[in-house]
Amino acid sequence: MTTQFIGKPDFTISTQTVSESCPSNIALIKYWGKYADQIPANPSISYTLNHCKTNTSMEFIAGETFSVQTFLAGNEEVKFAEKIEKYFRNIEQYLPWILQGKYIIRTENTFPHSSGIASSASGFGAIAKCLMKLDDTFTGKISEDESLRKASFLARLGSGSACRSLYNGLIVWGETEEVEGSSDLFAVPYPDTEIHEVFKNFNDWVLLIHEGQKSVSSTVGHGLMKTNPYAERRFQEARENFVPMKEILKTGDMDRFIKLVEHEALTLHAMMMMSEPAFILMKTGTLEVINKIWDFRRETGLPLFFTLDAGANVHLLFPGDDPEDQIRVFIETELLRHTQKNGVVKDVMRF
Ligand code: PMV
Repeated sequence: MTTQFIGKPDFTISTQTVSESCPSNIALIKYWGKYADQIPANPSISYTLNHCKTNTSMEFIAGETFSVQTFLAGNEEVKFAEKIEKYFRNIEQYLPWILQGKYIIRTENTFPHSSGIASSASGFGAIAKCLMKLDDTFTGKISEDESLRKASFLARLGSGSACRSLYNGLIVWGETEEVEGSSDLFAVPYPDTEIHEVFKNFNDWVLLIHEGQKSVSSTVGHGLMKTNPYAERRFQEARENFVPMKEILKTGDMDRFIKLVEHEALTLHAMMMMSEPAFILMKTGTLEVINKIWDFRRETGLPLFFTLDAGANVHLLFPGDDPEDQIRVFIETELLRHTQKNGVVKDVMRF
């Protein structure tokens, strides 16, 4: 099944420095639970962000003993280097030259370092793109489509959700009969002609409720789905949710979109609470914000809603170019006070 990604045995390496940039993404139907080799337990769909990005430069020193040195915003990160070393060893069959040199990798995120915004998707996305640039130089060019697909395949092996960050717009990862060409091995763009205009111009304002390390990592969280008694039902539900999602995206039905997206976010966190051992990543501020959003919607009927990542931050979603005054004032006066240091990262999804 993965043979199309096996690397070419003939290559000529040379010392090179390449740079790439990759955005983060936010899932609408969530991936939570996986099988061996980063195969997702259910399909997922996400929006790729425009501003939250990782910029990476990769220096490859050909012929030196294999080693990896990483710098995040100028500071050496030994733990990250160990992770990347392991990752490179793991993908050697797809890039046979990969262990034939030394790497110095410098990365910078455009979003605050301690914001709690996941950097693994944009981080592995950028690394996979750098690797494909080197591969093009060492083994000969392949088409842009093939190169992107292989970058998505490689990013998945670093961090599952990273495979969706390689493309702009609404992106699907995981096989579902609702989306032609979808695969467990790499992500594909959701067909543009099937997307109502209202979903092509959206905002994601991330309220930074809790900055800093999460108490339970995604890796541990995915692992706990193996013994979660609700896991199978959850995987089934996510698969089923692609049916209404497809209709909603086509027709532009905002009310149903809001209901489905919020349900997905709360289900993700419900799964965490039903794990053994249980864990909760939401904070008091997360719950206060959710309740205030619901009250606001009840009172105004305006399309302001939320999704959550595996963390305490709240992603505020609303359509259009700029927030209507009522939404902006509500966020500033009612929601910002639940963040640490008035923290909000304003991103957009435009395509
Ligand atoms: O890619 P990972 O292993 O960091 O998992 C990400 C999982 C969620 O962000 C919670 C959901 C998703 O589909 O992105």
